[in-house]
Amino acid sequence: MCGIVGYIGKQNTSKILIDGLRELEYRGYDSAGIAILEDDKLDVFKAVGKIANLEAKIETSAYDTESSNFSIGIGHTRWATHGKPTELNAHPHLGEYSYVVHNGIIENYKELKDELINSGHKFVSQTDTEVIVHLFEYYFNKTNDAKKSFLDTIARLEGAYSILLITKSQPNRIFFMKHGSPLAIAHGNNKDEILFASSDAPLIGLASDVVYLEDGVSGYAIDGNIVFNQEVKWTTLPTSKQFAQKDGFRFFMEKEIYEQHDVVTDSMLGRIKDDEINFEELNESLCSGINEIKICACGTSYHAGLTASYLFERISKVRCSVEIASEFRYKEPLLKDDTLFIVISQSGETADTLEALKMAKKAGLKSIAVCNVDNSSMTRVADATVLTRAGIEKGVASTKAFSTQTVVLWMMALYFAKVNETIAKQELHEQLKVLREVPKSLIVEDKLHEKCRRLSKRYLHGHGFFFIGRDVFYPLALEGALKLKEISYLHAEGYPAGEMKHGPIALADPELFTIALMPQHCHYDKIKSNVEELSARDSTICAISPLEFELSDDFIKTKPTDHYMLEFFEMLVVLQLLSMEISVRLGNDVDMPRNLAKSVTVE
Ligand code: AGP
Repeated sequence: MCGIVGYIGKQNTSKILIDGLRELEYRGYDSAGIAILEDDKLDVFKAVGKIANLEAKIETSAYDTESSNFSIGIGHTRWATHGKPTELNAHPHLGEYSYVVHNGIIENYKELKDELINSGHKFVSQTDTEVIVHLFEYYFNKTNDAKKSFLDTIARLEGAYSILLITKSQPNRIFFMKHGSPLAIAHGNNKDEILFASSDAPLIGLASDVVYLEDGVSGYAIDGNIVFNQEVKWTTLPTSKQFAQKDGFRFFMEKEIYEQHDVVTDSMLGRIKDDEINFEELNESLCSGINEIKICACGTSYHAGLTASYLFERISKVRCSVEIASEFRYKEPLLKDDTLFIVISQSGETADTLEALKMAKKAGLKSIAVCNVDNSSMTRVADATVLTRAGIEKGVASTKAFSTQTVVLWMMALYFAKVNETIAKQELHEQLKVLREVPKSLIVEDKLHEKCRRLSKRYLHGHGFFFIGRDVFYPLALEGALKLKEISYLHAEGYPAGEMKHGPIALADPELFTIALMPQHCHYDKIKSNVEELSARDSTICAISPLEFELSDDFIKTKPTDHYMLEFFEMLVVLQLLSMEISVRLGNDVDMPRNLAKSVTVE
């Protein structure tokens, strides 16, 4: 998830672009860049790291930042999905005479890149984005028609993208297209000004009305006018930037729960195509000759790993064990070199997980990092990295990182099964069909959120919570308990439902809240009897299920689906919302809860 900005007008273009990128830094900041076209003169600046590095580069250059001539400019702050965070991979990407910034993923970039290389185009970056500018010039060189070349270019692109393109062939226009990734456009407060941004935060104070483009809307801005390819709806900009950075949500955590549909969709782009599963980051040598997979992580990432262990054994038919990194480091583990070591980490910087990875490397194991931050420490140590593409996760309580990790690991289990030929084509077809349904299971319905909000007032006290589940719903129960603990400060424990009668059921009384995960398609009868045992001993039960359950004190109905993994993601959203709403009622800081840090880089 990246941030793009654009400007046409006579104000200080570099300042407007930089200020805009700073407002979008929450969308990604592993590198950034701007391109400004003034008549036939192009100035391009790029820098790795935060916007401040880019700003310093501009200030120390000969560029006249006070220029008030008419100019057009585009800018980009990056969250790497293809290619390391380097200056070469930073946007804008340059052709001979055209320049582009892009937010999203071009799924078919490899075939386009091969085609363009064969027709003589030279590429300098590892990114998918660079194909856009070369494709535009390929068409323009044939037609000399910028508008048609832009339309022909976007017609060839598959995936999710919002694009701003400028070209010396039309130095007073910015071409734009929105498909799958957000893009807003506004008339500036000054005459003949047009502004673009991935979200409205950069526009506040510079414009009053805005169009939040719908998918399929394209066009160009020229001399204060905007030419759209279809009818658009103008609306009034919000007044608060902070509110805007959260895209109107109360907390980053809330925004990130609602983003799960989109980022899980992004995590699958280019990896699932028809009945094929592919990871360009992995090669078959990594998973052939492997007799065991050992997963190592902390916290929420550990819960994703535990979930994946069921899928690796069930789908890839590979033995899979999961370790908590802080334990693994000191247990003098017996490691064999036919074991594949997978670390999972949103930040890629968690000290215990990083050290565990180094131990495995030292013991000669092949390793993969499943990470959300490219160029983080773990990605530089592991043999291969699979990015989860969740975009920046600002809330300390991890939400979209977990859902993208789980989907990526599920896809890896299918990839391994394909490489090792342990899955029939029909089964692979069925699994991919279910995977494609996951984003729908992550859509937050208003009535569900309202139900969780109303219920939350019932769970503010009591002497503790048990979250119980079976199979993959056991790691999900652990995750639900962790969410509640870390933002409400109430005691909660995730437990295998079948284990309650081996001691914990002694705690059952009306003050003990049991959050029961009761999927229809995963040992329903077993979990039902576990919950009945607790209900018979007066524990207060909150059942989460697609099936009505009359014995519960509270009941949250999830959408009926036909696969337990879809139920998994339906219930995940409930657990995230419930913990957030309880935290809100308790008056806690949802995004920055006490005692915690977003990335635990110390032991
Ligand atoms: C999750 O909500 C917590 N913030 C925490 O458990 C986190 O998952 C853990 O610290 C691991 O972080 P990582 O994924 O960046 O390695």
